Amino acid sequence: METTILRIEDVAAQAAEIAAAGAILRGGGLVAFPTETVYGLGANGLDAAACAEIYRAKGRPSDNPLILHAADRAMVDRAAREVTPLAEKLFAAFAPGPITLILPKRAEVPPSVTGGLDTVGVRLPESDIARALIRAAGVPIAAPSANLSGRPSPTTAAAVAADLLGRVPLILDGGACRFGLESTIVDCTGDRAVILRPGAITRDMIAAVAGAADFDPAIEKQDAAPRAPGMKYTHYAPKAPLTVLTGERAHLAAAFRREVEKRQDAGETVGLVVSAEMRAALHDLVPPTLMAIYGAQGDLVAMAAHLYEALRYFDDKAVDALLGEGVAPEGLGVAIMNRLEKASGGRRIEA
Ligand code: TXA
Ligand code: MG
Repeated sequence: METTILRIEDVAAQAAEIAAAGAILRGGGLVAFPTETVYGLGANGLDAAACAEIYRAKGRPSDNPLILHAADRAMVDRAAREVTPLAEKLFAAFAPGPITLILPKRAEVPPSVTGGLDTVGVRLPESDIARALIRAAGVPIAAPSANLSGRPSPTTAAAVAADLLGRVPLILDGGACRFGLESTIVDCTGDRAVILRPGAITRDMIAAVAGAADFDPAIEKQDAAPRAPGMKYTHYAPKAPLTVLTGERAHLAAAFRREVEKRQDAGETVGLVVSAEMRAALHDLVPPTLMAIYGAQGDLVAMAAHLYEALRYFDDKAVDALLGEGVAPEGLGVAIMNRLEKASGGRRIEA
């Protein structure tokens, strides 16, 4: 299959191209498109056959449900049977934006889309390209992240192409995604908000609106069974095995130095996913081409935005191992550490 990559600079000026992309979706085809979190691989969310193409293109296990994207609050009602009072509050506060709410599903949503669950994840993306595309399609759009299953989510069109070239007809290129991590997922089926996947909308932000918010135990403990089925798979994994180093900043550089030297002595070529400060501290040990910088220390917004690109940077580098710099698990740091934890399969060194 030939893949077209279409740059979208201006949604209004390119209305005809967006309409054509919407028609592909409506007709059962796939379109990869940017959102403010990560790129999504879209299909008509009410069409089981179209959604089956998503699973095929990604190599995704079929028990891992898709989330549906709506252009406006009215379209949410075509996916969800009921929008609970808790969900109304969260939509009012955070939508459109990087949040997905789990709600009772409508019968019109095929069971294959929700992995047989009687709930559905619904998200109102903020990206103007995403919204225009969904509006043009006229149906809720199922869209997982536009990566091959198990790989880091794509935050640029080039990253989508690296995984899906030849597997999808069309990639809309809207530049780099603003947040860079997938949406916060909140189970809103009960009275109390339960966060199934941490993201840019933090627990404190949700608690401020909902009165309280819990993390699903699986976010904090590796052995608990996750309620977002996708969270159980190895995820976001770079091609070389990643180990995450965490701890007090004062000790972290020394711990990195020890670990790099140990591995280099064993003949390994080591790549680093680190802050600008750590690069400066280790520049005598590791060449600049083997260090991907994901932000300045403490700049969690930049780190979240660049994490997946930093992991993907090493896809075509001959490295035996990657060492990543952890952050304090507070605020947005919870989401960053959650993705690092998954990308590393739990390999961690505490400084
Ligand atoms: O930011 C995002 O959410 C991106 C962009 C493209 O919108 N999408 C995304 O989709 O990250 P995906 O499929 O990669 O992740 C969705 C997660 C999966 O872990 C899935 O298991 C979980 O949501 N999920 C979907 N439906 C669910 C449901 N009914 N109950 C619990 N978890 C659900
Ligand atoms: Mg994904």
